[in-house]
Amino acid sequence: MRPTIGPFPATRFRRLRRADGLRRLAQENTLSVNDLIWPLFVQDGVNQTTPVAAMPGVSRLSVDLIVKAAEEAASLGIPALCLFPYTDPDLRTESCEEAWSQDNLANTAIRAIKAAVPQMVVMTDVALDPYNANGHDGLVRDGIILNDETVEALVKMSLAQAEAGADILGPSDMMDGRIGAMRQALEMAGYQDVAIMSYAAKYASAFYGPFREAVGAGSRLVGDKKTYQMNPANSDEALRLIERDLSEGADMVMVKPGMPYLDICRRVKDAFGAPTYAYQVSGEYAMIQAAAQNGWIDGEKAMLESLLAFRRAGCDGVLTYFAPRVARILQDHA
Ligand code: PBG
Repeated sequence: MRPTIGPFPATRFRRLRRADGLRRLAQENTLSVNDLIWPLFVQDGVNQTTPVAAMPGVSRLSVDLIVKAAEEAASLGIPALCLFPYTDPDLRTESCEEAWSQDNLANTAIRAIKAAVPQMVVMTDVALDPYNANGHDGLVRDGIILNDETVEALVKMSLAQAEAGADILGPSDMMDGRIGAMRQALEMAGYQDVAIMSYAAKYASAFYGPFREAVGAGSRLVGDKKTYQMNPANSDEALRLIERDLSEGADMVMVKPGMPYLDICRRVKDAFGAPTYAYQVSGEYAMIQAAAQNGWIDGEKAMLESLLAFRRAGCDGVLTYFAPRVARILQDHA
């Protein structure tokens, strides 16, 4: 084999780091606005915003303001939004039927966005936690999270979201068999073009804390999610989950959380080459914001570096609460 790295001083890596132009020529990966999916929290009311305490800069928005956010996203060139509802406590029940109501907050927001900004890609969350009296992603009986009954509920929820106009369904529940069941139901109901982004490798993580507050599920959660979300110690299992979900009809796959799991992103991309996404979750966002607010790190630089890292790890895109801020910076530098 021809040696590609000569001995010093023939090879001096610093030659291509000497000046900005050279660094740009040698740059392997880039971050673009096309890589961003912006997660948004929806609440009841008109012209209402409620700041999420542990996520500085993030607020829940009423549907009219979600539409404004969608317009802002479109003007910044952000291709997709992902909606998470804060459901009225009175509508949170053990049977979770609000999850597949045509008129629930998420479906109302989808219709409103699609009416105002039709080209905006709208992604949903398919899981029961914002509707569940006990904060779990699945139906619970005698303290057990039921798999197959939950899948039936998720199928109803998926059809309602497709009916409302969703472009991508995002099952974040980690029940077994849900991708196949959703895909079959979508085909049968004439929604063959609705995409599924499976939260295929989703870990039982401490980094979801601020999100659970944002959707009001944290204080309700009984126990933990370890019987359905992955053990953070596992890596081979992630590949098997991704393979399973792709075989059942997922179009895109996700690794979640993001930064502590970049090794998983890389393995997934290398093994399958499928459209691969990471979720830079609420706790990751909170850490960067908190350190920046204390003056301990340069928040803007840390944000950009964290997002570029996902591209380097093989991700095609990132769900990030930083999306509008990054998009604005990328626009200024274009
Ligand atoms: C729940 C869901 C969670 C997130 C997205 N969907 C939390 C959980 O699994 O408890 C987390 C997102 C974030 O932390 O930003 N279906």
